Amino acid sequence: MAEDRSYSPSREFVEHANVKGMEGYRALYKRALEQPAEFWGELADKELFWFEKWSKAFEWNPPFVKWFVGGKTNVSYNCIDRHLATHRKNKVAILWEGEPGDQRMITYQELYRLVARFANVLKSRGLKIGDRAVIYMPMIPELPVAMLACARLGIIHSVVFGGFSAEALKARIQDLEAQVVITADGGWRRGKEVKLKPAVDEALPECPTVRDVIVYRRTGSPLEMKAGRDLWWHELDETAAETCDAVPLDSEAPLYVLYTSGTTGKPKGIVHTTGGYLLQATMTMKWVFDLHDEDTYWCTADIGWVTGHSYIVYGPLSAGATTVMYEGAPDCPQPDRFWRLIEKYRVNILYTSPTAIRSFVRQGDQWPNAHDLSSLRLLGSVGEPINPAAWEWYHKTIGKERCPIVDTWWQTETGAIMISPIPGAVPAKPGSATLPLPGILPEVVDLNGKPVEPNCEGLLVIQRPWPSMLRTIWRDPQRYEDQYWRRIPGNYLTGDAARRDADGYLWVLGRVDDVMNISGHRLSTMELESALVRHPAVAEAAVVGKPHEITGQAMVCFVTLKEGKWDTEQLAQDLRLWVAHEIGSFAKPEQIRFSEALPKTRSGKIMRRLLREIVTSNTVVGDVTTLEDLSVVTRLSAQTDDE
Ligand code: PRX
Repeated sequence: MAEDRSYSPSREFVEHANVKGMEGYRALYKRALEQPAEFWGELADKELFWFEKWSKAFEWNPPFVKWFVGGKTNVSYNCIDRHLATHRKNKVAILWEGEPGDQRMITYQELYRLVARFANVLKSRGLKIGDRAVIYMPMIPELPVAMLACARLGIIHSVVFGGFSAEALKARIQDLEAQVVITADGGWRRGKEVKLKPAVDEALPECPTVRDVIVYRRTGSPLEMKAGRDLWWHELDETAAETCDAVPLDSEAPLYVLYTSGTTGKPKGIVHTTGGYLLQATMTMKWVFDLHDEDTYWCTADIGWVTGHSYIVYGPLSAGATTVMYEGAPDCPQPDRFWRLIEKYRVNILYTSPTAIRSFVRQGDQWPNAHDLSSLRLLGSVGEPINPAAWEWYHKTIGKERCPIVDTWWQTETGAIMISPIPGAVPAKPGSATLPLPGILPEVVDLNGKPVEPNCEGLLVIQRPWPSMLRTIWRDPQRYEDQYWRRIPGNYLTGDAARRDADGYLWVLGRVDDVMNISGHRLSTMELESALVRHPAVAEAAVVGKPHEITGQAMVCFVTLKEGKWDTEQLAQDLRLWVAHEIGSFAKPEQIRFSEALPKTRSGKIMRRLLREIVTSNTVVGDVTTLEDLSVVTRLSAQTDDE
């Protein structure tokens, strides 16, 4: 039924849009398909500043690609300096509100000063091109300032989401062999201080490459500063000069490494580079968000995830937008905080997640209805499939049936939005990310790489390299090749299943690998299982996702215990905290289920498929503390699973 429904933008929206009507979309798509080098080359010249012009738009030696070969540019320069000679110099670049209600409006001019000063701080600490900075900060303006200061000097940054634990932070610092950690005392979330510096202290004794820790004071709570290692941001910044030239960098110089979960226990450091990444981040702001100079644009993601990198920081600033940043929780002090912010700042474009939308649905319409949301003209969704009911609610209650919705499909690896309606052009169907953006060639294939018939389910692959594509996995090109390019040779394997309907619309169905998507956060079952078996009581563990009304999926852990007398009620609680300690508080399991044995195939593989069925249909009932006997189902299913 949902598929029959389609929503076209209003005439007013189309008239004002950057890309107008299906003809506008088709013309762009056709040009990019037929002449990719010219298409992207012209955009690179028009949309970005280059210190030195590139010689070739792209060079594809599968599975490795280079974009704008030989060109020299700088992301920080493109995001700041080039706007200073225009009407934008005193335009608000970052419009920030802290959870307690404090505000900062940072103009492009002011952003330049903050970034230049902090870049001078980094320089004074001896950091240089190619060095690595781990950034572990709350959602305060100094987080993008730190990123842009690194980008200015060619220092590769890696932002670690503030919800990750000391253990997770340590693993990332070690893998990157970072020289510096930039952090803060803490940030505000639901009225409480979330401390960050103590996790850095816990991580660092086993991170010998780190020379300096730079600490920004946000909450002002007392903390220990280790002499010879820890430095206050404000002390270093006080004497720093207010100008700092951006370093001309190779178009392929790494900009950042962002860790994401894969199918093994070890997170992958996804490497993004400079010219191609910035071009696609910039273009998607104009195509997908239909950005106009007068817009106030708000992406509610955390900068710790790729959405925040591309659509709070780099895309919007490069496109000269006013980008809103909010520090805290959506329901603090009340469930109407988002609507309050939209009303207060007259936000025009809102980009959020299906999980957030579903929790707003649950809280009730009285919260948005109490606010004037008439400034909104476009809504976006990202991170997980959006169910048609949530889409319809977003459309009616928030968009007042006036605002197009862009359901944007992409991944940490893709760097920028890949499949999404262009709002003034492509009619939306609730639940579908619709059509690919110009230059993107998705296909739905079977296990042999053969395209499947319309409406049939298959693997979603991308058939051509695109500018903001990941270049490799940090120091592991083999894993990069194996993971993304080997399964269907010549094609990038997304790890998602999809189907294409008779109109060519793509419906992304979810992951087909051992990756869960909980509240739009990507979690690897293997990583969680290895965390669980590190606990002294645990012999074996299997983690599966269970459908969940709000968060899309919820985590259920099946655990077998070592010999001993265990208080399972207490232990279930301990194990939830243990996972939070090993990975992060956002990864706390919803359920721990103890079992005498895990169902296995005759060759000894844990049958996650069966466990998924159990948690979905509850064929085996049990509360968290009872011991489940899975041997019967195991015996029943072992035979078919081995075949
Ligand atoms: O399964 C897809 C889902 O999120 C995965 C990527 O997660 P991550 O790298 O953390 O990046 C999230 C933000 C870009 C995808 O493989 N996903 C993302 N957007 C959508 C989606 N699934 C369906 N519809 C979407 N719009």
